[in-house]
Amino acid sequence: MTRVAVLKGGRSLERQVSLKSGARVQDALHRLGHKIVAIDVGHDLVQRLREAAPEVAFVALHGRDGEDGTVQEMLEALAIPYTGSGVSACIRCADKVIAKHHMLDAGIPTPDFFAFNETAFKELGAADALPAIEQRLGFPLVVKPAGQGSALGIKFASAERDVPGALVAAFSYGDKVLLERHVRGRDLAVSVLDGDALPVVEAVPTEEAFYDFEARYEIGRTQFVCPAELPDEVTARAQELALQVWDVLGCRGFARVDLMLCHETGELTVLEANAIPGMTETSLLPQAADATGIGFDELIDRILRLARL
Ligand SMILES: Nc1ncnc2c1ncn2[C@@H]1O[C@H](COP(=O)(O)OP(=O)(O)O)[C@@H](O)[C@H]1O
Ligand SMILES: [Mg+2]
Repeated sequence: MTRVAVLKGGRSLERQVSLKSGARVQDALHRLGHKIVAIDVGHDLVQRLREAAPEVAFVALHGRDGEDGTVQEMLEALAIPYTGSGVSACIRCADKVIAKHHMLDAGIPTPDFFAFNETAFKELGAADALPAIEQRLGFPLVVKPAGQGSALGIKFASAERDVPGALVAAFSYGDKVLLERHVRGRDLAVSVLDGDALPVVEAVPTEEAFYDFEARYEIGRTQFVCPAELPDEVTARAQELALQVWDVLGCRGFARVDLMLCHETGELTVLEANAIPGMTETSLLPQAADATGIGFDELIDRILRLARL
């Protein structure tokens, strides 16, 4: 029996997902016979951790603060071992621009992109560079905030006139935004558990009549297939890329890497890595683990055993 603090909720835009992940993690820890202290992460986090004096913290947070190294830094300061990646890997994963630069440096394919902070637009006239960027990336192009998850703030711009609005929307989520080449293809995810790639999951939109991005993320309009129906060599390549990303970003415990399989070229490219992927009923990592015979309780048990300072 271990005394485990489950950190969930928090102030990020993914609070609701985290509450679901946290509740499910708690149930599993309970079944595994551990003593649990649930903490909804807020201003009294340090005080509550001191009171609880856990042997391990299970970080079931997503998005800002919980997944970007902030809470991990506090756990380091308090010398409490915690699940998942350490501070530096969290920082690298949470910022898509930083992650993509690491991938490029390592020769891992990721869609072509340009990234700017708001100062570049406000003080350096970056808007004047938009025509050149649009020419390089072509249309449609994807505009996304560097630091969000769950598809928040992501817009597809199908023509020049859509770009300014998409940028404003993305900047409402954070200070750094990227414009990225659009990849027409299949949406894949490879979860990694302790350095082993799990089966590939494909997200398939159930209505493909017209290409409406938001619709793809409405409940029930995306279906998940695991293992994804792919030629063996594509599966192997997706898993190989996910493990390279895991290594390059320095992940630990578990993570999920999101990729696209391009219809035209058949090439795989990596969009991003998630340091703390969802743990809800419909989340991809638990599904992938299940497909390889690792049930949810065993998954949580293994993640807990991998906890470190
Ligand atoms: N460059 C791109 N080309 C095509 N689709 C994209 C591209 N970038 C993102 N998407 C779509 O948006 C989804 C979310 O993008 P992602 O970069 O994984 O951010 P997050 O999951 O953090 O919101 C992807 O799974 C994919 O469906
Ligand atoms: Mg993603």
